[in-house]
Amino acid sequence: MIHLGIIGTNWISHQFVNAALETKRYDLTAVYSRKLETAQKFGEEYGDVEYATDLKTFFGIAHMDTVYIASPNSLHFEQAKQGILAGKNIIVEKPAFSTPAEMEEIIELANQQKVFFFEAARNIHEKSFKKIGDLLPLKNKIMGANFTYMKYSSRYDQVLDGQEPNIFSPHFSGGAMADLGVYLVYAAVGWFGMPNESHYFARKIPTDVDGIGTAILRYDLFDVTLQTGKNADSFLDSEIYFDGGTLILDSVNAISKAEFHDRNHQERDIIELTTEENPMIEEAHDFADVLENPNDSIMGARYEEWVELARNVNKVLTTLRKSAGIVFDADKE
Ligand SMILES: NC(=O)c1ccc[n+]([C@@H]2O[C@H](COP(=O)([O-])OP(=O)(O)OC[C@H]3O[C@@H](n4cnc5c(N)ncnc54)[C@H](OP(=O)(O)O)[C@@H]3O)[C@@H](O)[C@H]2O)c1
Repeated sequence: MIHLGIIGTNWISHQFVNAALETKRYDLTAVYSRKLETAQKFGEEYGDVEYATDLKTFFGIAHMDTVYIASPNSLHFEQAKQGILAGKNIIVEKPAFSTPAEMEEIIELANQQKVFFFEAARNIHEKSFKKIGDLLPLKNKIMGANFTYMKYSSRYDQVLDGQEPNIFSPHFSGGAMADLGVYLVYAAVGWFGMPNESHYFARKIPTDVDGIGTAILRYDLFDVTLQTGKNADSFLDSEIYFDGGTLILDSVNAISKAEFHDRNHQERDIIELTTEENPMIEEAHDFADVLENPNDSIMGARYEEWVELARNVNKVLTTLRKSAGIVFDADKE
């Protein structure tokens, strides 16, 4: 059994805990919050849970072996570092770290301490994502792709009100690309590898991060366009273009429908996909596979692939952000 601790008490932590418990491979051991009352309110539905309001006490809980971190983005680094130094495996919500320097430090530290670091990039662990990835080499030449994830955030209302909620704050490494665009970058880098060039044309909001924007990733033979935003809604599908037809996906952040339109035969092929009710269950299983088999070479190779992908996604996100002139406090630290 994996003994899980939680940092961050918003809805996403409940979703992860429910996914983890559903796998029957984790129990909830401890909850950290800045306020005891908040921690207790979070944990009450899960039975026997320990609570902590300071990180030293929390990471000192000996029988907790793995910590899920879902705090504001800029806090992930220090919390992850403290967790690793206490000998805990860490599962860090996307985007795991604000800069490549932070990412490298954590990867190195986790290796030194012989613990695992996972970025909770939910979409790449979904069976549907893997199925599309397996399909790509079977099609002929890729001509391009267009991925969209754009959703109005109720917290944008606070920006319009003159406030700076965490998710729209450069102090907390927020913005549309960091929050939603990260899924698109994961899809592009996961399926096509590292681009040669990455450019982001973004519209800044009063808090000085991106509210909406379009990125172009340039590969040897094709370009991938990413459209993201948190101050508007998009209802567009995502598409991958081949010389023989077009693969249409209802999204790349949670794929539930996929169709291939064959140009030559005028055929529409529906690709069968399976999805889970709780979208975090597949990642919870993937992480457990590694955590339960730390010496298995196949699991080890999968783990290394995820770490390399996390590192590359972080590099692309940073290049995109800088090309749009978005500066995080973490850049200065
Ligand atoms: N995978 C997904 O589908 C998904 C969905 C949503 C969010 N996320 C990720 O989850 C993370 C959290 O996002 P969120 O929207 O839940 O963030 P948030 O509401 O701003 O903060 C999450 C938690 O962090 C703590 N916190 C908030 N402000 C803090 C501060 N100033 N200093 C210290 N702790 C603070 C709070 O817990 P306490 O009050 O208990 O201390 C809060 O519940 C982000 O990395 C985000 O990208 C992932």
